[in-house]
Amino acid sequence: MTFLHQKFLLSCLFMSIISQLSKVSSRGPIYKPPSVEQLTNRFPSTPFSGKMSTFFGASNIHMKNNGSYADIILDKKTGSGLVSKDRYHHGFFSAAIKLPMGDTSGVVLAFYMSNSDVFPNNHDEIDFELLGHEKRRQWVLQTNIYGNGSVKTGREEKFYLWFDPTQEFHQYSMLWNTHHIVFLVDNIPIREVIYNQVSSSVYPSKPMSLYTTIWDGSQWATHGGKYPVNYKYAPFVASLGELKAEGCLMSKTNSTSPGSCLKSSTLLTSDPVEGDEYIKLTSQQTAGLKWARSKHMFYSYCKDTSRYKVLPPECRA
Ligand SMILES: *[C@@H]1O[C@H](CO)[C@@H](O)[C@H](O)[C@H]1NC(C)=O
Ligand SMILES: *[C@@H]1O[C@H](CO)[C@@H](O)[C@H](O)[C@H]1NC(C)=O
Ligand SMILES: *[C@@H]1O[C@H](CO)[C@@H](O)[C@H](O)[C@H]1NC(C)=O
Repeated sequence: MTFLHQKFLLSCLFMSIISQLSKVSSRGPIYKPPSVEQLTNRFPSTPFSGKMSTFFGASNIHMKNNGSYADIILDKKTGSGLVSKDRYHHGFFSAAIKLPMGDTSGVVLAFYMSNSDVFPNNHDEIDFELLGHEKRRQWVLQTNIYGNGSVKTGREEKFYLWFDPTQEFHQYSMLWNTHHIVFLVDNIPIREVIYNQVSSSVYPSKPMSLYTTIWDGSQWATHGGKYPVNYKYAPFVASLGELKAEGCLMSKTNSTSPGSCLKSSTLLTSDPVEGDEYIKLTSQQTAGLKWARSKHMFYSYCKDTSRYKVLPPECRA
């Protein structure tokens, strides 16, 4: 074998190893995620038109396919959003989301639960926030939790995604029960908030509504407002599908009645996420969680010592 020949073969081998390990695209390496249980398959999808109603910007909400899909749009005139008709006490909440392409700096797509409308001074919140980006950057996924109004302590974590969220639909899910809160992306847990480790006084514990919104976050989203929304690229269209909202139902009109699974002290119907299989993560899910956090998380409030002189208790656990 000639030297050149050898070199050629070696470089072929090298290229094939590279292409197997990571598909390199213009936006950097795409990692192959570990396989995990498909939690989303356990819960039925339901039309947006059945479970959600207009929160704001009705003219920028377009239901499709008989309500199984919804586009929510931000343009110069307005953003838009949907809110669940019911409130929920615990449950599994998920949507498949496809984000707008191109320069989206300042655009925020949020998929979250909140009860700030009912408890303005001591509200709870569980948030997915997808933050748009200027040219040549990528969408950032932020998660956050507020419990009983502790708004002074933001519990933000930020991730880069291991896929391009503008090309296809990807599933963003929240599981919330008395044991833990789990954020999942395509069924891979990216964050787990365990009840014991967080002081019970700041664990989201009151019924919440489910929201999805798209809005102009120029003031804070992209490097603190350095790159505001550029409406030259509007409209910004986020497409949503595969809505899952399975939880203990609360009447919207009677905020004192307990959830439908929690009426009095006996369970009426079973809480869909209160069974043994939802008490803690499986070993596969734990491996997925470690993978996501070690490879894709780039900010955690727990590491932010410039922001917190004394880190919140769960960060020291
Ligand atoms: C559309 O949705 C309505 C209400 O959910 C349902 O009654 C109807 O059968 C659906 N139509 C089709 C074609 O799926
Ligand atoms: C939540 O806050 C309210 C009002 O500040 C307080 O009365 C209540 O005890 C708190 N709940 C928990 C679980 O700490
Ligand atoms: C609200 O719920 C409570 C507890 O279930 C019940 O006692 C009360 O009658 C309800 N109020 C209304 C207006 O339905």
